[in-house]
Amino acid sequence: MMTKKIVVIPGDGIGEEITASAVAVLKKIDEKFNLGLEFSTYQAGGTAYDLYGTPLPKETIAAAKASDGVLFGAVGGDKWDDVDPALRPEKAILGLRKELGLYANLRPVKVADSLTEYSPLKTEIVKGIDIVIVRELIGGVYFGEKCESELKDGVERAWDLENYSVPEVERIVKLAMETAEKRKGKVTSVDKANVLATSRLWRRTAAKVAGKYPAVTMDNMYVDNCAMQLALHPTRFDVIVTGNLFGDILSDEAAVLGGSIGMMPSASIGECTSLYEPIHGSAPDIAGKGIANPIGTILSAAMLLRYSLNEEEAAKAIEAAVEMALNDGYRTPDLYRDGFKKANTEEMTQIILDRI
Ligand code: NAD
Ligand code: IPM
Ligand code: MN
Repeated sequence: MMTKKIVVIPGDGIGEEITASAVAVLKKIDEKFNLGLEFSTYQAGGTAYDLYGTPLPKETIAAAKASDGVLFGAVGGDKWDDVDPALRPEKAILGLRKELGLYANLRPVKVADSLTEYSPLKTEIVKGIDIVIVRELIGGVYFGEKCESELKDGVERAWDLENYSVPEVERIVKLAMETAEKRKGKVTSVDKANVLATSRLWRRTAAKVAGKYPAVTMDNMYVDNCAMQLALHPTRFDVIVTGNLFGDILSDEAAVLGGSIGMMPSASIGECTSLYEPIHGSAPDIAGKGIANPIGTILSAAMLLRYSLNEEEAAKAIEAAVEMALNDGYRTPDLYRDGFKKANTEEMTQIILDRI
């Protein structure tokens, strides 16, 4: 049997705890479906900076490139707030995205029926939410030229340059269209075209791409309105396509519609190896306590099986086990309420394993 190389990058904070959970789940799936998974672990983030003086060691990049799929935890923490900006832990994930050419980040937002009551919004508003945010991941203001500090007429300033090219917009909008074709056929392209030149280019380009997909309808929405519509009427959305920064912000907002950011997975895809990570960060406030919700990472592992290994049945087995655990009333502390069964990270993982 051909082996499948999975590179695991735990990172910092809760990264270690949540990737351990997802690996346990993948191992169980491997026993059941005989996929030939082979795991190796590599360092990145603040932990790597402390050990090697760089947040993204060359070995980590090489292993990721040579793998069949990367499972990533999270990086960052206050401890590294004052290191050289070029060596911050976050540079690890930004660098991996760039090195692997991961131009698209798919962030599905679904709210399980058993969780609608956990939403900060009323049940009737969130019931039936099924959105995919398609976030451009290696362009925009994140990767534009920047200046940490300069003096002009005795005044200190800093700047970050936002720029997008036509091919960059074309490839992400194309992917959004293809995603929508397999869903409800609706794309909302989100920008700030009333103010930003990059957004006007984005909107023009998106319209041209959309013209090639007669089965998909596309509308445009300003990002400020989109932030409001996500809270007001989230079920109106099918696929949202947007730039790097807007996608980052809107996906945290959308994540909480279902009650907790700890539930939300993502897939970052490009030309070769893809990377899978929960959308949340290293959660320094709860790191080391063993109480992080591992479900976002476990569902990211399911996405890895689906997109990188083409193992739909195995992916569905994970998703079904997660749903069962929730239906059976188990909740990590981020979602715990009276009348339910409290489970810490390890317990929740075991409960899911038992249901695979
Ligand atoms: P965060 O997502 O880490 O945490 C925000 C809040 O959500 C916290 O209260 C945290 O406890 C909670 N939370 C997050 N994940 C959870 C989980 N799985 N279970 C239960 N609760 C969870 O965002 P932040 O606090 O703004 O950032 C902390 C650090 O993480 C920063 O250094 C930031 O740069 C980094 N970060 C990294 C990534 C990544 O590696 N991809 C993503 C986002 C933030
Ligand atoms: C995310 C994170 C990252 C981002 C940070 C850690 C660089 O917030 O994955 O959403 O902004 O992309
Ligand atoms: Mn984010």
